[in-house]
Amino acid sequence: THQWRGIIEEYRDRLPVTDTTPVVTLREGGTPLVPAQVLSERTGCEVHLKVEGANPTGSFKDRGMTMAITRAKEEGAQAVICASTGNTSASAAAYAVRAGMVCAVLVPQGKIALGKMGQALVHGARILQVDGNFDDCLTLARGLSENYPVALVNSVNPVRIEGQKTAAFEIVDALGDAPDIHVLPVGNAGNITAYWRGYREYAADGIASHTPRMWGFQASGSAPIVRGEPVKDPHTIATAIRIGNPASWQFAEQARDESGGLIDEVTDRQILAAYRLLASQEGVFVEPASAASVAGLLKAAELGLVDPGQRIVCTVTGNGLKDPDWAVAGAPQPITVPVDAGTAAERLGLV
Ligand code: F0G
Repeated sequence: THQWRGIIEEYRDRLPVTDTTPVVTLREGGTPLVPAQVLSERTGCEVHLKVEGANPTGSFKDRGMTMAITRAKEEGAQAVICASTGNTSASAAAYAVRAGMVCAVLVPQGKIALGKMGQALVHGARILQVDGNFDDCLTLARGLSENYPVALVNSVNPVRIEGQKTAAFEIVDALGDAPDIHVLPVGNAGNITAYWRGYREYAADGIASHTPRMWGFQASGSAPIVRGEPVKDPHTIATAIRIGNPASWQFAEQARDESGGLIDEVTDRQILAAYRLLASQEGVFVEPASAASVAGLLKAAELGLVDPGQRIVCTVTGNGLKDPDWAVAGAPQPITVPVDAGTAAERLGLV
């Protein structure tokens, strides 16, 4: 029987490791590519969801983190540091445990989802809540890694991008070729950079016949690439992508331009509508930021930008359980009943 071995073992020949590299893994990757029936009907296309919430810590960050922590260990680091809107810190904290390292985390105060904070805490990370936004946290983390013995594991670390490109490999391996369009949320812009690298690599080696158009979506209140300038005080309910000055900005524009793609924005309202559609009609529970990809696809379809018959993959980046507030908010309260079958049947509308 075969168990998925994690992205480094599965794609070893395409990653910067050697035979002696000490691999730190939670067997990340190998995530489901789920056909999306309702989205396919709505767009007249063949739409799939790459469900990255199925990774060990519940987000795509694990793909990059297995590489970053593995290489940090190889280089003898004893401590790692990251700035995060939540998912990177959860992932770094877990992989640091596997590697026997100290993990330091800088998060914007009051702006990360409770589930993510719980992950960093339970894995024993040293957490500082910074009185500032993500961009301030990243500036601080970079400075600390330059002046103290601590390795930076944000996506400005190039091996993170190497790990994350494996998601594109998995999609081509599953579909037999690249999709026509790939849609994903954009925050710090590392992931769109990584997918584009993965797709280009497979096309260059003839494993895929072409590369997809890359479509990235930012939240309207945090859309610096769309605006063409940094956003000083970014806001959105999708806290994971509440970023005003993305580190991989120019690589995201490169992915857009080289692929003939686009980077656009979606409102919080559109994000929440897509979030609810995914949960209630596709059976896939994601965190709000993840729904930006699907919100973007639906927006583009409404604008007539989606020709029917295409094959489209939307990455949904994180698990819905990380930020359950939005699932509960606005939903009807469950009804309390006595231990009585008759009442239960009546309240369930069975009689
Ligand atoms: N979706 C989720 C759930 C995320 O956590 C992030 C980024 C993104 C999308 C955007 O990806 O930054 O590569 O463009 N989260 C980072 C973090 C910033 O700290 O967890 P990106």
